[in-house]
Amino acid sequence: MEQIGSHCNQCQRCDLGANRTHAVIGRGNPKAPIMIVGEGPGQTEDETGLPFVGKSGQLLDKILAAVKLTIAEDVFICNVVKCRPPENRTPATDEADACKGYLLEQIRLVDPKIILLTGATAMKTLVGIKQGITKVRGQWVERDGRLYMPIFHPAYLLRNQSREQGSPKWLMWQDIQLVREKLDEIRSS
Ligand code: URA
Repeated sequence: MEQIGSHCNQCQRCDLGANRTHAVIGRGNPKAPIMIVGEGPGQTEDETGLPFVGKSGQLLDKILAAVKLTIAEDVFICNVVKCRPPENRTPATDEADACKGYLLEQIRLVDPKIILLTGATAMKTLVGIKQGITKVRGQWVERDGRLYMPIFHPAYLLRNQSREQGSPKWLMWQDIQLVREKLDEIRSS
């Protein structure tokens, strides 16, 4: 993982490399059973070199805590692209493709049983699903012996504050319960 860090901090495989302060590689348990893949670093992440440390990250911590999961113990968290897209725009397909080798190597090293794909970019890059996240969130997708689940991106939940039944936040709470149940099932089998 350290080597991936040194590569990414010198990487010029796409234009995002020109503006980075730090490449953002990942944090959490490098042997975690769950990996969470986001989209790309935001401003705080670019400044600190750590993924999901801004508002989205704080919300994610709360969602995980609701089912007694912590990033330090149970999760390794990273992004599709390691360098911040300008104005926090969605990474372009060629940027995601240029960075994909690093992500695949991270998956190989961590070897998680469960991979949560937060948002459409992660879903498209890793499982090739191009449907809207609303249609496929909460469903398990099996690929090469791993279980993937698309979930809403926490930034989307921050823009949709309602907790009413059927709201994005409410649905996220359902999805994270499924993740907890699956992890318990895998651990006891
Ligand atoms: N922070 C990250 O590191 N990734 C995201 O996708 C959003 C916020």
